Amino acid sequence: MTKSFSILINKKIKKFNKVIHVDGDKSISHRFFLIASQACGISKALGILESEDVLHTINSLKKLGVKILKKRGHFLVYGNGLSSFKTKNKLSINCGNSGTLARLIVGLLVSYPNKFKIFGDKSLNKRPMDRVILPLEKFGMNFQTTKKRTMPIILSGSNMPIPISHEEKIGSAQVKSSIIFAALNTPGITKIKEFYPSRNHTENMLKYAGANLKIKKINQHNLISITGQKDFKSFNLSIPGDISSAAFFIAITLLGYKSKIKIKNVNINSTRNGIIEILIKMKANIKIINIKNICGEKVGDIIVKSSKLKSINCPKNLVPKTIDEFPILMVVAARAAGISTFSGLKELNKKESPRLNLINKIFKQVGVKTKLKNDSIKIYGNPNLDLKKSYKIDSMYDHRIAMSIFCLAQTCGGNFNILKSHSINTSFPSFLDLMKKIGAKYESI
Ligand code: S3P
Repeated sequence: MTKSFSILINKKIKKFNKVIHVDGDKSISHRFFLIASQACGISKALGILESEDVLHTINSLKKLGVKILKKRGHFLVYGNGLSSFKTKNKLSINCGNSGTLARLIVGLLVSYPNKFKIFGDKSLNKRPMDRVILPLEKFGMNFQTTKKRTMPIILSGSNMPIPISHEEKIGSAQVKSSIIFAALNTPGITKIKEFYPSRNHTENMLKYAGANLKIKKINQHNLISITGQKDFKSFNLSIPGDISSAAFFIAITLLGYKSKIKIKNVNINSTRNGIIEILIKMKANIKIINIKNICGEKVGDIIVKSSKLKSINCPKNLVPKTIDEFPILMVVAARAAGISTFSGLKELNKKESPRLNLINKIFKQVGVKTKLKNDSIKIYGNPNLDLKKSYKIDSMYDHRIAMSIFCLAQTCGGNFNILKSHSINTSFPSFLDLMKKIGAKYESI
């Protein structure tokens, strides 16, 4: 774990014109290791995000007997097929800060009758697990949890798991993926009816690897069917940059002074690109070029220029595909002309911190006018927002809050001390170096 640090900022970023690459996609990196561990043979990946969250996934799989090596920049996973983990009773798995790892790995344990202990750090141990426990119990898994159904969890799988039919109504890729992972190791056909389509990297990667998974579109829903206990072969992957990381560079460029950035080779999967759709509606100058399909995922170069932005009434149907970008989007809205409204954000308070409440609190602290009501927020934007005071911001150990406030401080002035910023390393270890590269001045203490 990185040593704790705070970030001090007391100067705005100057005009810049740069070309950058952001770190590899976090969701795809986690899935590479988890899916390759179920494949037959050696899978290979380039461009893996080596952040703390992903390192927890690698270490968890190693504990389950999976051989993983890094050779000349490539990660190699030696898969032995479905249900091939080498387990012993009472094995404990530490998921650190990663909700994705915690929710996904429990699905893979469906067919092991041994006991496992699953736990995370202080923040992860507060986050809901019932969303995966309920469907996994139907497969025949057994869970002992805290009263609030959070971690630490003691679980055991079943010798004879049974396939299920599930209606996914949260709009959560983690829940969907956990069920898909359990289904792969369960005989028969599992069906998931997805009401609010969420990121589909699990489905894309499994199809790319040749697994037995089918998707049908029925009206607005996706019907995913998985035929279990069908082995699939190992695969090679090239992992693009993470749009959730690119989002901070898109925002700092839009809010900066006459600046331009090209972010190369970013994943622009249509279940992830809500931030781009929303910013374009806000009149942002954004273009995507060089669009290609690489290993089952859509990738492109994003070009952004500083822009005069308009407020937005954000359509609710864009929430699942924008879910991790709301903190930085709200920073952008604080500088757009007019009042922006974001609603249907219940899930935001279930992330690494209660993000909706926290952004609202920070905006109040720095003097950005907001109105928070249940799961909606109105942000009163001001294109001339000029912060002059000193602000000590508690990021509550939430990486995306720390990076969003970094962008606010760089573009709106003031003296900022962003506390507990070391959480940035859970998702984007190159963030500070890349910010330095485009000219941001800061000190970390
Ligand atoms: C993720 C899914 C999202 C997202 C998280 C990563 C994934 O969570 O917020 O950062 O990789 O599946 P939910 O599925 O809970 O919305």
